[in-house]
Amino acid sequence: MSARRIWLTGASSGLGAALAQALLSSGARVALSARSVEPLRALAARYPDRALLLPGDLTRSQDVRQIGERIAQAWGALDTVILNAGTCEYVDARQFDTTIIEHVVRTNLLASSYCVEVALPLLRAGTSPHLVGIASTVTYLALPRTEACGATRAGMRYLFDSLEAEWAPEGIDVTLVGPGFVDTVPSPPNAFPLPLDLSADSAARHILEKLAGRPRDITFNTLAMAELWPLSKQPNPAGLVIGKPMQRSPAPIKDSP
Ligand SMILES: NC(=O)c1ccc[n+]([C@@H]2O[C@H](COP(=O)([O-])OP(=O)(O)OC[C@H]3O[C@@H](n4cnc5c(N)ncnc54)[C@H](OP(=O)(O)O)[C@@H]3O)[C@@H](O)[C@H]2O)c1
Repeated sequence: MSARRIWLTGASSGLGAALAQALLSSGARVALSARSVEPLRALAARYPDRALLLPGDLTRSQDVRQIGERIAQAWGALDTVILNAGTCEYVDARQFDTTIIEHVVRTNLLASSYCVEVALPLLRAGTSPHLVGIASTVTYLALPRTEACGATRAGMRYLFDSLEAEWAPEGIDVTLVGPGFVDTVPSPPNAFPLPLDLSADSAARHILEKLAGRPRDITFNTLAMAELWPLSKQPNPAGLVIGKPMQRSPAPIKDSP
């Protein structure tokens, strides 16, 4: 059987770099995308026959289209697409700044949508096609400072759930991954330490093991979310609002009209 043709975004660092390394060493053909060229070049140089170097800014639809054209020329199709590129910029809700929201929406939700558009015809031409998105477990528990990141990941969840239903008749599988807390990101400033006890390599291994079964969801490190719950009971720990939705008192009785 020929090696799977995989497009992996966000392959220059963290989880994406770990996924790229694991996929290439397992024999897959991998198209590597991110803005930083050097880390991609270093990885691709070790697997010249199987790595495609396709850098670009995925928030620019033109870059994404060019990447798609290069993949079509090189391979003619894609078997797996892993949309891992993204960002999590922390918001200070007391000085709400929509430029952060805009940038995170562009990077996580809009760029993923550009990639889906370009990937669809290539997946249709692929073998046992599979679309995979890396989202976040923050959508299960609203954490402080993650307003932008959480909102875009909730958007991705809806997008991928809908695509899963719509593409099922064509045989395109869809999986969304909530990687919990991987030790590649800093904790939010002046808020709380994230339980970042999972390395990028372990997270990548876990994701790739689970992907073989093509589940709709891969959510792990959920225990780490549970670890955060008791913090919500502490008296005003640095403005912590974790768990507020679960602690909310009954809604006030509205005035009758
Ligand atoms: N670490 C966690 O605990 C955690 C938790 C939940 C979700 N996630 C998500 O999982 C994914 C990987 O996270 P990570 O921790 O490995 O983060 P990371 O080290 O910051 O990696 C993010 C990757 O996305 C790429 N990227 C960002 N903006 C891009 C753009 N405009 N165009 C192309 N590529 C872009 C970056 O490459 P360049 O900068 O070179 O472009 C980098 O390769 C992200 O989507 C992240 O939001 C992470």
